[in-house]
Amino acid sequence: MAQTEHTLALAYTELTSAADLTPAEAQVWEAARAATAHAYAPYSGFWVGAALLLADGTLFAGSNQENAAYPSGLCAERTALFGLSAARPGHPAIVGMAVAARPANGLFGPALPCGACRQVMLEAESRQLRAIPLLLPSRQGTILRFASVADLLPFHFRADDLPV
Ligand code: THU
Repeated sequence: MAQTEHTLALAYTELTSAADLTPAEAQVWEAARAATAHAYAPYSGFWVGAALLLADGTLFAGSNQENAAYPSGLCAERTALFGLSAARPGHPAIVGMAVAARPANGLFGPALPCGACRQVMLEAESRQLRAIPLLLPSRQGTILRFASVADLLPFHFRADDLPV
């Protein structure tokens, strides 16, 4: 029996503060933070915002929307991506994405997308045939910059795997 060991390497940048962001990154970063104000999160009390920067310079944001039937609610990342696709079919490419999270009226903290959101982020990227750069607030209070949302989901499921 033969077996091969593999090691995955992930390259990303860690920024100490928002002052280190490019002007375009600062825009999408701030939009994600602002979008937390539009969360409907009476059950978790955890307000999340996600923002998308489009190639035409416009911003589109989403926030988590909860429901008394808990699983019916949706994360901020998916409301942003599904909302964009529904509201602006044929929209310009997404050239940046950021996520922010805070407890109601509290301080911003880490915002690392759940697995289901990563899967949806990946499909948005595959669909536009262009990498979506991503900014996430880390648990250490720094900013993580990824070149592509695919970096967050190795060994992902994708349309190519579906028999047609
Ligand atoms: N949530 C998001 O919006 N994004 C994530 O990546 C993780 C979790 C939301 C879902 C729910 O409304 C609340 O945060 C607590 O899980």
